[in-house]
Amino acid sequence: MMTFQLPPVGPEVLSKIPSPMLVVFRDRVISNIEQMIRMAGSAARLRPHCKTHKMAAVVKLLLERGISKHKAATIAEVEMLADAGATDILLAYNPVGPNIPRVVALAKKYPAVRFAVTADHPEPVKALSDAAAGAHVKIGVMLDVNTGQNRTGVEPDAALAFNLYSLISKSPGLTAAGFHVYDGHQRHTSLDDRRSAVAEQWERVDQLRRKCEQSGLPVPTLVCGGTPTFPVYAEMKDPAIELSPGTCIFHDAGYGSLFIDLPFQPAAAVLTRVVSRPAANRATLDIGNKAVAADPPKGHRVYFPDFPEAAQDIHNEEHMVIIDDGTARLNPGDTLFGIPMHICPTSALYEKVCVVENGNVVGEWPVTGRNRQITI
Ligand SMILES: Cc1ncc(COP(=O)(O)O)c(C=O)c1O
Repeated sequence: MMTFQLPPVGPEVLSKIPSPMLVVFRDRVISNIEQMIRMAGSAARLRPHCKTHKMAAVVKLLLERGISKHKAATIAEVEMLADAGATDILLAYNPVGPNIPRVVALAKKYPAVRFAVTADHPEPVKALSDAAAGAHVKIGVMLDVNTGQNRTGVEPDAALAFNLYSLISKSPGLTAAGFHVYDGHQRHTSLDDRRSAVAEQWERVDQLRRKCEQSGLPVPTLVCGGTPTFPVYAEMKDPAIELSPGTCIFHDAGYGSLFIDLPFQPAAAVLTRVVSRPAANRATLDIGNKAVAADPPKGHRVYFPDFPEAAQDIHNEEHMVIIDDGTARLNPGDTLFGIPMHICPTSALYEKVCVVENGNVVGEWPVTGRNRQITI
């Protein structure tokens, strides 16, 4: 296991923060964003995913550094981004059913924003085209390419891929905006292995691109990857590539342990308190599964910098019991930080986060994008 440290926060400051609370270290967020820009080579190549933070305040930090393109997974995240001032937003989640008129409503509400969505089937494309043309708006559509994750998308060498891109190009109200190439299954711990895996999938994606372009269908943009493959796409010089990592803005102990080549630092942690000492080597903390994401396996959901070796035993809605001989020095009310193994669903558990800089609380940031609906 890697070791992770957080910036120091004094006991006086901690004593005033209710727990459990997600604490965001603003200077770490800024340093991760600046690192992203350095790796990308320019802010213009980035289209970060907001699913990790879901906060307008973080969008503003990105905008201030020249990052104007953004990615979202829900209509509410899109609305949060547009309200925060993003001018180019990709909803990387295929809209179906009532989400189709909601996408059109977004385009009408924010006429200055360039919108795009993803698609992998002709029926939603036709429905979106009818709705967009009927409302006199233009919406970009990216062909969602399945590079092996088998979650969504069309395999690049399937006939449907070319046919669908051609349908999008011809559809009134829509613009063929390129390909969406997400590859969350590429989780090799070695960077070289991730490079080889991307090279293999890229060959098939590139062939589809050539076929489309040779048939007069421009493919202006390929939105590629998450955090693990970010360094790989970043070093590829193809000008059509946009980079769409999300997690690295806050980073977490999960990616930090798996991908040691990534130069990011955890920027968010849950402040928790000891609520009970049921046995000499046990401490019960208020970091239940309503306070930290429970999608990593039980026993591996949190990294405690003060107790890196502690076993994580019971994990209920409001409690986590850690077992470690060192807990003998703990008393009820004592504070600990827990760095989530998975930060994205953790931030969704908080209405607002506590923001710390240089050891002091400097504000609160609402987590607006966690909502299912804002106004649309
Ligand atoms: C479509 C899509 N793009 C980008 C990302 C960001 O990836 P990561 O969390 O690895 O930064 C995700 C994450 O789930 C995703 O689903």
